[in-house]
Amino acid sequence: MSVQPHLSTNEPANVAPERFGRVGVLYGGRSSERDISLLSGTAVLRALQHCGVDVAAFDPGSRSIAQLESAGFDRVFLVLHGRYGEDGTIQGVLEMLRIPYTGSGVEASAIAMDKVTTKKIWQSMGLPTPAWVSFCRGESPGSDLPRLGPGLVVKPVSEGSTFGVTKLEADDATALQGAIAEALKFDSRVLIEEQICGRELTCAVLGEGTSARALPLVEIVAPQANYDYHHKYFSDATQYLCPAPLDAALAEEISALCLRAYRAIGARGWGRIDLMVRTEGGAQRPYLLELNTAPGMTDHSLVPMAARAAGISFAQLVLQILADARLEIGA
Ligand SMILES: Nc1ncnc2c1ncn2[C@@H]1O[C@H](COP(=O)(O)OP(=O)(O)O)[C@@H](O)[C@H]1O
Ligand SMILES: [Mg+2]
Repeated sequence: MSVQPHLSTNEPANVAPERFGRVGVLYGGRSSERDISLLSGTAVLRALQHCGVDVAAFDPGSRSIAQLESAGFDRVFLVLHGRYGEDGTIQGVLEMLRIPYTGSGVEASAIAMDKVTTKKIWQSMGLPTPAWVSFCRGESPGSDLPRLGPGLVVKPVSEGSTFGVTKLEADDATALQGAIAEALKFDSRVLIEEQICGRELTCAVLGEGTSARALPLVEIVAPQANYDYHHKYFSDATQYLCPAPLDAALAEEISALCLRAYRAIGARGWGRIDLMVRTEGGAQRPYLLELNTAPGMTDHSLVPMAARAAGISFAQLVLQILADARLEIGA
């Protein structure tokens, strides 16, 4: 199979649809976020079909991954969320098959899937992230826990869609045990963070390295500040404000921070950084939560929403991400 050239352009509309060759949209998969991925993938598939791209769906949750080799794809749009999709594993398979793919490479995908490794990298670069402790199944949170603050957030180290995430008061030992047990249903490692009470924002990023750019910030206003699975995907009660109603200087500062955080992980193509902002002594302080390397792509998801605010239609967004598809190793 010949490796297709990297077609990146700032004007994806200029890329004739046939230049993409045969495109596989990989969606579904085996993670707990399968249902959301099916919705994302269907939206991407429809948009590409509408643009005249030769495209077919491939669901590694219902077909053997070995069939990828004979599927005849010249490039792949990866919209698998979570394990086996956003964590470097499928990226490794595509590297070995020499099929260019969208989004981050093997290493950045694996790092971003691991919230603790991501936080360690950000912390080492002086980028703000909530104070935390982490431990494995069978271990205890240790003596640092009380230092995290009056409110805690317990979550699995590698998961998404708010699965296994619990907010609680630090002095509630019973709730803590329950929250740890809940997180352990999803992963063998647990992350406990200081709970940041404030505004929730997300920052979509397109591109790579010094040419990466942040799209307008989205503020998420969930009922009782509870942005759980239901409020993420199914509730009408969650409000999304885009561009986020922030002072221009603060919005610029937060966007610059998110770009640094994205580059620090070595992400490319596209991604989305989740963060909280808290008022401290009259100042607004951002805290980075996580980087998603294959975020939701239904037409009411956050990255398409941010793109729309920047004048980029859903179809243009999908074409831009596809045009940036490439291999990491020896491309
Ligand atoms: N340290 C924290 N302080 C306050 N809220 C948090 C914190 N960590 C997570 N949350 C809340 O939980 C949600 C899910 O957490 P996140 O770390 O983004 O994991 P996921 O991969 O499940 O999206 C966030 O969108 C936010 O509403
Ligand atoms: Mg998140």
